[in-house]
Amino acid sequence: MKTRTVLGIESSCDETAAALVTDGRVILAQRIASQDDAHRPYGGVVPEIAARAHAERLAPMIEATLADAGMTLDEVDAIAATAGPGLIGGVMVGLVTAKALAMATGKPLIAVNHLEGHALSPRLADASLEYPYLLLLVSGGHCQILLVEGVGRFRRLGTTIDDALGEAFDKSAKVLGLGYPGGPALERLALEGDARKVPLPRPLKGSQEPHFSFAGLKSAVLRAKQSGEYTDADIAASFQQAAIDCLIDRMRRALAGVGPVNALVVAGGVAANKSIRGALETLAADHSLPFIAPPLALCTDNAAMIAWAGLERLADGQSDPLDVAARPRWPLDPEAEAVRGAGVKA
Ligand code: KG4
Ligand code: ZN
Repeated sequence: MKTRTVLGIESSCDETAAALVTDGRVILAQRIASQDDAHRPYGGVVPEIAARAHAERLAPMIEATLADAGMTLDEVDAIAATAGPGLIGGVMVGLVTAKALAMATGKPLIAVNHLEGHALSPRLADASLEYPYLLLLVSGGHCQILLVEGVGRFRRLGTTIDDALGEAFDKSAKVLGLGYPGGPALERLALEGDARKVPLPRPLKGSQEPHFSFAGLKSAVLRAKQSGEYTDADIAASFQQAAIDCLIDRMRRALAGVGPVNALVVAGGVAANKSIRGALETLAADHSLPFIAPPLALCTDNAAMIAWAGLERLADGQSDPLDVAARPRWPLDPEAEAVRGAGVKA
């Protein structure tokens, strides 16, 4: 069968990205522009600034990505864009661009759920990964445990009732004066500290449902800092260990309650954390499961994962009409019951 190529577009948060990916799992070209510098003075992503930056950068970026691959739009088989969840201004820039390209070329449009992009990206990286698998999705905006059963088929086993894990890393890093986004800096500082020095809570540890809560942990970090009793490195190490204890406890609970799975998978920006990866790898080994973590560039927000989700949908015979809506909220598992405080984040 002829190889199919999909153009993927991502603009739901603070990265503008375009990629060309084939169904043979080849990333022909990809470009990504982070807006960290634009948002740093505010200590977080400012939606209006993000949307404007996407509007300026996206079209030339798509042109450049096609040029990198030596392709024209006519040679692309479909156009896939993130249609939510995310910051709605940015999502609309990407989705409307995709609609215009689909209309001009007559190619199918595929409206991709950003979370599905993250959830399926491990299959782009690893051809051996078969459904179903257990996925921990952890980033600045996402914190979920998902059973991935197939394209569009997810069971959300756990979610956060307050902050996402990356958000807790960023807020704790801010308390320690580490700048934004502080997750990587906090991990580096933790290497110099002693994780047993600062007593910190393990919110929801041992509870029945595999949900998360990190707001209390973040407040405890603030109190520890204000007490003046501990070094920043000890606070960082103790915070990271508390977060890992929570993650592993919740993943154990999820594994106990779910049927057979083919692998334990992690995705999202926090998957960059080596201590977290190590703890998950041990957990997977305890359950005789392969542990799969896509390369970092596929873990953080990117357009290759959107193109890949588009390819999986295309192979499934799916595409979307030109009037498909952009959605600020779009749960992967609509059946999952609402959890107190959850859903504030994408
Ligand atoms: O996936 P991502 O690039 O963007 C979204 O939030 O969707 O994830 C970024 C998040 C930030 O909160 C960042 O601090 C966190 O991932 N992060 C880390 C590390 N690297 C990135 N957190 C802990 N340790 C790291 N090494
Ligand atoms: Zn994301």
